[in-house]
Amino acid sequence: MADREFEALLDYLKHSRGCDLTGYKHSTLMRRFAHRMQEIKIDSYRNYLHYLQSHPEECITLLDTVLINVTAFFRDRDAWDYLAKEIIPQIIASKELQEPIRVWSAACASGQEVYSLIILFAEALGIESCLQRVKFYATDVDDAALGQARQALYQPREVTEIPPDWLEKYFEQTEQGYIFHPRLRRTIVFGCHNLVSDAPISKIDLLTCRNALIYFNADTQKTILARLHFALKNNGFLFLGKAETLISQRPIFTPVNLKDRIYAKGLKLGVDEHLQITPRTHKKQAFDFLASHVRIWETAFETSPFAQLAVDSNSCLIMANEQANALFGLTLNDVGRPLRTLKPGQILSLCKSIQQVNGDHCPVTLKNVEWRMPNCTTYFDIFITPVFSSDAHLISMNLTFTDITENKHLEKKLEHTNLELARVSNTLEETQATLDTTHAELESTQQELETVYEEMQFIDTNASQLKKRFDKN
Ligand SMILES: C[S@@+](CC[C@H](N)C(=O)[O-])C[C@H]1O[C@@H](n2cnc3c(N)ncnc32)[C@H](O)[C@@H]1O
Repeated sequence: MADREFEALLDYLKHSRGCDLTGYKHSTLMRRFAHRMQEIKIDSYRNYLHYLQSHPEECITLLDTVLINVTAFFRDRDAWDYLAKEIIPQIIASKELQEPIRVWSAACASGQEVYSLIILFAEALGIESCLQRVKFYATDVDDAALGQARQALYQPREVTEIPPDWLEKYFEQTEQGYIFHPRLRRTIVFGCHNLVSDAPISKIDLLTCRNALIYFNADTQKTILARLHFALKNNGFLFLGKAETLISQRPIFTPVNLKDRIYAKGLKLGVDEHLQITPRTHKKQAFDFLASHVRIWETAFETSPFAQLAVDSNSCLIMANEQANALFGLTLNDVGRPLRTLKPGQILSLCKSIQQVNGDHCPVTLKNVEWRMPNCTTYFDIFITPVFSSDAHLISMNLTFTDITENKHLEKKLEHTNLELARVSNTLEETQATLDTTHAELESTQQELETVYEEMQFIDTNASQLKKRFDKN
């Protein structure tokens, strides 16, 4: 009953007063409402609804109670020290010398957070450079808090966390309190901004959104985080409150320092995350974008020159492309059937390898797999690739069959030609050896002939001389 009355109250605020509190955690809201109701001595949500209807100004007071503006300079000091030591120098180092830097304090309440940021940048860059290069944005949904932030006037009890030398350097002590450095204050653009429904500021290098997310329910936190993701530059940083965690299982930010809640923008996002960070108003474009991507993948799968098929985690056929249908004679009737009952599943060792992929979730390559058919033999290289869902569950396996029969034949031909070549080369060597021997024999015969010739010449000469002598006598 109380719940229903509470919902009616929220409904009235949303539709009749333009004040949408439905994204806030109900438990927190109920506590804040109870607090206010106690102050004005109202004991039921129903009566409070009547009170709101008859006292229009009550809505402002209620909002004041709901929007908890508690804040402080350098709130959670350790985290700010880390920011000063590690993050701000990184941001500055990533920039060209005069390149502007953009900083956004979202849900800044009465401004202490944005002034803390200015001090750190002024310390890192020097006041003049900070004035020239850094643009600060400070936003909140609470106009009254923003008014205080713009004034930049703080009481002594509020500045106790500021180191004395900074207090002296960046504040002027007046009778009313401490006033922040007026020139530096002018680097800030203040604005009323609702984290849930307003478009984010863009191209931000450092975004602080501290101690605001905790007040929202899980769905609304996701919406806000999607907007903050959009706001950041690719190398930008997000600084959350100490008690805040990224609730999504696959967060769109990656931790830089978990303890201090400093995150970098996540860039390697899956389809789920892309859908999550795409603003709701753009869902249609997101689906069109997705649909066209799916179409591109489908076409790539269908027109692949290789036979490809996919099985589910139970090894049943989910899809096969044209090449696979033609090669293995698959038809639509085979979809849903266990792979082992189909031709590709009967190829030696395939099913065993699928079990292996199922077990250790790693891709497997099978080389030279022989597929004997009655009148021919085909050889394949088979690649089995596991497919995972965005939450890392094995949902499918992709099988690609590369027909290497032609290569295999060429290999065999090459082997044969090499053997033939070796044989010819042997014969050639033998012939050469015979030739060499014949050549040597010929040479020695020639030498012998030359000797015989010389001897004959000698004999001939001697014979002439003898004949001459004989003739003389
Ligand atoms: C607890 S304060 C945090 C202030 C400061 N960020 C800090 O951490 O010290 C929470 C602030 O969130 C603001 N807030 C609540 N709902 C908001 C919304 N929907 N959009 C923007 N700011 C909101 C409140 O007005 C309040 O100023």
